[in-house]
Amino acid sequence: MKLKWFPLFLLLIACKNETPVEEKLPEIGVIAEHAMVVSARKEASKIGAEIMKKGGNAFDAMVATEMALAVTYPYAGNLGGGGFMVYRTQYGELGAFDYREKAPIGASMDMYLDENGEYLKDKSKVGGLAVGVPGTVAGIFAVHSKLGSLPMEDLLAPVIELARKGFIITEMQAERFNKYGPIFEETSGIPSIYNGEFKAGDRFKNEALAETLSRIAKNGRSEFYQGETAKVLTEFIQSQGGIITLEDLDVYEAELRDPVVFQYKDLKVISMSPPSSGGICLAQILKSVAPYPIKEYGHNSVKTIQVMTEAERRAYADRSFFLGDPDFVDIPVDTLISDTYLEGRMNDFSFDQATESANLSYGTIPGYESTETTHYSIVDPFGNAIAVTTTLNAAFGSKLYVNELGFFLNNEMDDFSAKPGEPNMFGLIGGEANAIHPQKRMLSSMTPTLVEKDGEFWMSVGTPGGSTIITSVLQTILNVYEFDMSMQEAVNAPRFHHQWLPDLVQFEPDSFDPIVLKELEEKGYTVDEKNAPVIGKVDAILKLPDGTLEGGADRRGDDTAVGF
Ligand code: GLY
Repeated sequence: MKLKWFPLFLLLIACKNETPVEEKLPEIGVIAEHAMVVSARKEASKIGAEIMKKGGNAFDAMVATEMALAVTYPYAGNLGGGGFMVYRTQYGELGAFDYREKAPIGASMDMYLDENGEYLKDKSKVGGLAVGVPGTVAGIFAVHSKLGSLPMEDLLAPVIELARKGFIITEMQAERFNKYGPIFEETSGIPSIYNGEFKAGDRFKNEALAETLSRIAKNGRSEFYQGETAKVLTEFIQSQGGIITLEDLDVYEAELRDPVVFQYKDLKVISMSPPSSGGICLAQILKSVAPYPIKEYGHNSVKTIQVMTEAERRAYADRSFFLGDPDFVDIPVDTLISDTYLEGRMNDFSFDQATESANLSYGTIPGYESTETTHYSIVDPFGNAIAVTTTLNAAFGSKLYVNELGFFLNNEMDDFSAKPGEPNMFGLIGGEANAIHPQKRMLSSMTPTLVEKDGEFWMSVGTPGGSTIITSVLQTILNVYEFDMSMQEAVNAPRFHHQWLPDLVQFEPDSFDPIVLKELEEKGYTVDEKNAPVIGKVDAILKLPDGTLEGGADRRGDDTAVGF
């Protein structure tokens, strides 16, 4: 399928500092016969693919890819953050790993409020108090011990070598390092390896991270949660005003959860369950859209955008009220994604006029009491498939870099609702269900998703992008299923986003038909083309009818598909 409105902003980003040239985006992604990794960095995709070439499975590749992203994509890849993985084994077994960060034991509901109850916005975003108890290392060990097949040392060896020998930085990375290096020093008061003038083509080494990974390879999970690394980590966080203790690390566990599973027409969608809102919101939106013939309406037509926006409005309103950590709050999952409830939610939608978010609240359920991130998809030669989204929250998280350990710390505490009605960094409003509580996991929007068709694996998909994650995953699935795009075209296609509040629809600039945007404005939608130069960076894999795999790597970043 040919895309009518070509996303010009991609060209501008790709050609910064050069004379702009009309470069055409590929319509078909990388094709592989046996296995594939699509991630934010070429080196990470390559390491994952190499592990599978040596006989490892998708779960082994996950460990190596996750850690390789911590080396080559410190913007979001991490040891100091957390994430979620959804899996489907070659036998069709489904599951999900939750290695989301937790609030420290010393956390409290009013920890970001001053004595007058005013929200101290920066404290949940930058510095020691913003850091949640990291879950990523527990995550890779949990995945490996349940489903991995090769020794952990073998999986970490190429990553350690990569950290030691270094990797070549891209133009996008050089810009980021130059921009953020001084901010890291300002935040902690300590210079780091990110101080300096970087340019594309420079080699970047991280000896401290190589050492940390070597100790983890030798001593196992306990190195991070009880060992030398734990001691250095907690001393550093506390020296930066944080409250994470050795006890917080000691009691941290990754959790095995049941994913959210639902039907969209003849697709079976498997996505992340709470503490992510991703799976439930995706189910709500897709199931609300299903009764409308959007294929007939056309891709990014007025009517398609209206239906999707109104479904999103209602899902995000519910998100703000009902969703939080399932270990702390009762979530009426079955009702929220039931056909009857969703039909009722869409009852007052009209094609004539936009619903006003100010007049729309969460739904009534009788008896109910009440970035930056990165994604990768892997399919192995055995037929196992995974979708993994991992995060430090903002770009480089709390901006705290631990020199001795070689990694950044998250600012995931900002994903809690610090004060009812106060938006977080993604403009998301939360309520009691997502209030801060010791040991609680903060609500996420991460939506690692697998899709089955005719009982077989069909797609692995996910993206970074904070609150826009859910709507980017939604559009990518619909682009392939409803609008007959290839995996790569579906990833390339321009995206839009709505999240109930603020009451506006964001569009990637210069990518949508101006007549469509004008008509939407006439119907009462506030069109915002200014504030989201890029919505999501989707990495995905599609199984084609002949059994080969097509990788869709997002040109909005340096993302790369590697397969064999
Ligand atoms: N930190 C972004 C998310 O989890 O939604």
